[in-house]
Amino acid sequence: MVPGRVIIPTATMKGVILAAGKGTRLYPVTKAVPKPLLPIANRLTLEYAFDRLKECGIHDVCLVVGENEPQMRDALGDGGAHGISLSYVRQVEPKGLAHAVGFAKDFVAGDDFVLYLGDAIYSEGFEAHVARFREAGCANLNLVKPVEDPRRFGVANVDGERIVKLVEKPQEPESNLAMAGMYVFGPQIWDVLPGLQPSGRGEYEITDAIQTLVSNGETVLAGVYTGDWFDTGTLDSFLDTTRYLIDGGTLVGSGTEVVAELGENVVVGDGARVDRAVRIEDSVILPGARVSVSGTVRHCLLGGDVTVEGDLVGAIRYGDLE
Ligand code: DAU
Repeated sequence: MVPGRVIIPTATMKGVILAAGKGTRLYPVTKAVPKPLLPIANRLTLEYAFDRLKECGIHDVCLVVGENEPQMRDALGDGGAHGISLSYVRQVEPKGLAHAVGFAKDFVAGDDFVLYLGDAIYSEGFEAHVARFREAGCANLNLVKPVEDPRRFGVANVDGERIVKLVEKPQEPESNLAMAGMYVFGPQIWDVLPGLQPSGRGEYEITDAIQTLVSNGETVLAGVYTGDWFDTGTLDSFLDTTRYLIDGGTLVGSGTEVVAELGENVVVGDGARVDRAVRIEDSVILPGARVSVSGTVRHCLLGGDVTVEGDLVGAIRYGDLE
């Protein structure tokens, strides 16, 4: 060994993406298209996740799926088309993030892994954070980001780089550091999962699992994310993410027919037809949709056949699904 040179072990790193949620906040669209497969700026939501994992050198990826399993398998297959090797495990019911990750234990098989929440989109990669995890030889490193209102997130108290306390969605947050949906774990996580109890909201929380690591005296680090982080789960956040990705302009796919005037932040998916509308702004028309609206379409997510007399504002519609 060369004196003074630090050898950083490069154990295999795998990826686990949680994609078993029901996407209820985007109903009825997510009754037809599972949220992880919803196109954002005309790419599948999960393609952004695959890119971020590949940048970290991760090609072996497990998707935790739910009732959406058949559609997920149909759309993504073995992952080859996306340059990864994809496995699937099924979480029988969405009982929380710590419950979901448990299904990936055999896949991870004692290796280190990145846990990625399937509805997150990041503007920048996090290779440096994965490298820091390896260099520190810690049990766990979590992406955190200062936010204005931490109450809807897991919230971390830190001492320097170390996380000393974690609370899921606290009413009175003790810090402004939100858990930002990307976690790197070593095998220590598997020891704490069996002892978890459901939280007040009835879920097995990943924040509780990490708090147990902290209480057990493991080194748990925070990596402050400096890029933009989007969670695409609501209409507002879906359209905000779209705005970021297309720079507020318009993106019109191939094979489309659109008679409407297009304003800011509009995506029209491949093969969609808008045969009547005065103007469309701040909206996403999904691939293959048939839209006929006599007025203006604003702040909407539309798929299937949508026919409306008058304006359509702030709506999520998919054909006649409700
Ligand atoms: O967005 C970051 C936040 O994500 C963190 O700050 C919180 O600490 C963490 O608990 C989580 O909070 P949410 O309540 O927002 O998580 P959500 O229910 O939206 O689920 C996140 C992803 O995990 C989503 O893509 C669906 C998937 N999921 C969720 C549950 C509850 C599963 O695959 N299985 C599940 O059982």
